[in-house]
Amino acid sequence: MFQYHCLNPIAEKGLKLFGDNYKKTESADQCDAILVRSAKMHDMELPKSVCAVARAGAGVNNIPVKEYAEQGVVVFNTPGANANGVKELVLAGMLLASRDIVGGIEWVAQEKDKEHIGKLAEKQKKQFAGCEISGKKLGIIGLGAIGAMVANAACGLGMEVYGYDPYLSIDAAWNLSRTIKHSKSLDEIYSQCDYITIHVPLLDSTKKMINKEAFDKMKDGVVLLNFARDLLVDEDALIEAVESGKVKKYVTDFANETVAGREGILVTPHLGASTEESEENCAEMAVKEIRDYLENGNIRNS
Ligand code: MLT
Repeated sequence: MFQYHCLNPIAEKGLKLFGDNYKKTESADQCDAILVRSAKMHDMELPKSVCAVARAGAGVNNIPVKEYAEQGVVVFNTPGANANGVKELVLAGMLLASRDIVGGIEWVAQEKDKEHIGKLAEKQKKQFAGCEISGKKLGIIGLGAIGAMVANAACGLGMEVYGYDPYLSIDAAWNLSRTIKHSKSLDEIYSQCDYITIHVPLLDSTKKMINKEAFDKMKDGVVLLNFARDLLVDEDALIEAVESGKVKKYVTDFANETVAGREGILVTPHLGASTEESEENCAEMAVKEIRDYLENGNIRNS
């Protein structure tokens, strides 16, 4: 009988896949495996009995992967399992940055004279005018599972898509729309694109990769989208770029004290993978990985 501990109710959505041979424990002590979503594992002492940790998500920056490897603990993640959920929020972010949907909805909700709202709306609508994304240039930094889905969807919406990914595999390239232009350098993305979206993991080498130097190379009035990790962007440089108008809108899924409540910045509270489908897919993939490891010793991805 294997024992597992679950650190997040969302990760529990896949637990039905564990058969009779598994027991869920109330504490992490004595368990063989841990399922986790966003909890910071750096703060938790791992019991000696644990040999596998599975993250229901793609990023593993909440897990001390190197230390676990030294202790012989295998770390799994679920790449691609929530890609569609994140892709849809990125597209929504692009549209929200281009059309004043939020301003328009707020105005209708707050206008007291509901009896004459139709007439008033016709007068007010000028202030909510926006622009279309079709025909605009979108730069995608990183063409992994999420970046590739965003790329294909954006082509379908009539955008001119530029992708930058020096690690793109042949298999991944086959699944990309033929109309995507592959950029040889980030500078090309920065200098050409009206919209730029980041889809790279947070590593020492990518931390603050979007910094003052990068902003200086971007077009005036660029829209920057960050649904990957907040630390990829140097937020001091970002605030300067937003205040100067270099960045027309910054759309991010990572709320913190620096970006919240600022003009020109649209923030959601890490909702990219928060859909029924993504949560279930991630949990199921995580459970299958743990089972395959505990029962057969297979390491499918880590
Ligand atoms: C991810 O890394 O895939 C996301 O952070 C998942 C999540 O929202 O938990």
